[in-house]
Amino acid sequence: MRTTAFDPQALRKRAVGALVDARKRTRVLTDCVEDPDLTAQHSPLMSPLVWDLAHIGNQEEQWLLRAVGGHEGLRPDIDKVYDAFEHPRAERPSLPLLPPAEARAYVAEVRDRVLEVLERTPLEGDDELVRAGFAFGMIAQHEQQHDETMLVTHQLRRGPAALTAPPPPPASADAAGLPAEVLVPGGPFTMGTSTEPWSLDNERPAHRRTLPDFFLDTLPVGNGAYLEFMADGGYEDPRWWHPAGWSFVREHSLRAPLFWRREGRQWVRRRFGEVEPVPLDEPVLHVSWYEADAYARWRGRRLPTEAEWEKAARYDPATGRSRRYPWGEPDPVPALANLGQRHLRAAPLGAYPEGASPLGVRQLIGDVWEWTSSDFLPYPGFTAFPYREYSAVFFGGDHKVLRGGSFAADPVVCRGTFRNWDLPVRRQIFSGFRTARDAEPEAAR
Ligand code: AVJ
Ligand code: FE
Repeated sequence: MRTTAFDPQALRKRAVGALVDARKRTRVLTDCVEDPDLTAQHSPLMSPLVWDLAHIGNQEEQWLLRAVGGHEGLRPDIDKVYDAFEHPRAERPSLPLLPPAEARAYVAEVRDRVLEVLERTPLEGDDELVRAGFAFGMIAQHEQQHDETMLVTHQLRRGPAALTAPPPPPASADAAGLPAEVLVPGGPFTMGTSTEPWSLDNERPAHRRTLPDFFLDTLPVGNGAYLEFMADGGYEDPRWWHPAGWSFVREHSLRAPLFWRREGRQWVRRRFGEVEPVPLDEPVLHVSWYEADAYARWRGRRLPTEAEWEKAARYDPATGRSRRYPWGEPDPVPALANLGQRHLRAAPLGAYPEGASPLGVRQLIGDVWEWTSSDFLPYPGFTAFPYREYSAVFFGGDHKVLRGGSFAADPVVCRGTFRNWDLPVRRQIFSGFRTARDAEPEAAR
């Protein structure tokens, strides 16, 4: 059972809206630069933007035109070129990619036909793939995830800014007086979901977890706090580092988050083509799991587990139930969280008071992806759906879970149950963290 009752007309409208929104954003990201910037590889960590563009169309063709629509296919000949498992990112520039004009025509043609498929597809049957518009929601989420990836490519790209956006809102007036941490009461809670219609396979099924009491930071770790770790010699002290993290910082001579540079007596950062002083009151961004873990240990704390993060974000102590978001059930709107690339940076610490959890934890959703201590593993009762290559092939000890979404994550790919993952060395992504600690055991109080 993946869904309860729903209104097919409303979900059809939601599916069209999600597809249209994703495409608007894809166009912003690919129309803001000239063709050479679309075909270039700006970093060996990333694909050329024109690969992401046609890959978006190819996934849509495979799932919505062929699998759902029964169409024989527009360009089955290019499936291999755009298969992420056939070619690692570093080798994608040497593939016979569709040039920008052809890639644009291709994604537009796929989309035209997909909207016809959506119009004639009943969303209320027993077919899991289309029930409640799942496949359409999945493909809108896929496009938005690649849009975030393309925004990472823009951040890595050298040269003048191609994108602009207004600044996010300031911290609330009471931000300076917020407690540093909150106590999340122990006991059982529901993790994951069996009812959210567009949840992806790794978020399912809902299951009970029991956690002891723990403390969690009210806010993400800020640049100012992170600078204290740096000034205290954090990057030079093996005591704080996971052994593999210590090799990683030594090998690459790391001494600050990615995109930071020392200029005279101050630290500056490059952000989408602009260089600016590092703002002390913003969540730290572009740190690896190893850096997050080392900072937490230096503070005498630790990263939260994934279950702790989700309990803090979803558990309502008044009812004992898990909700969709820290603020409750409604979808995110701009007053609640910094999502959807409306801003090209995280908001200051203590912004979005309306988005706080019942216990007062802020900025869990949006701003920066938050590293957790947990490996990416299946929930009890997991079934791969509709394809193993989305989640199942990544389960195991290699990837760490990130939660909560960044300023670059669209609301359609961000909810209290949503799970992201990456290698612990990754730091070009929009990653930050907050810390936690065990509550004192009863006897020690
Ligand atoms: C879930 C963000 C790790 O970008 O590699 C895109 C999403 N999967 N295409 C990724 C994804 C297939 C995935 N992440
Ligand atoms: Fe993909």
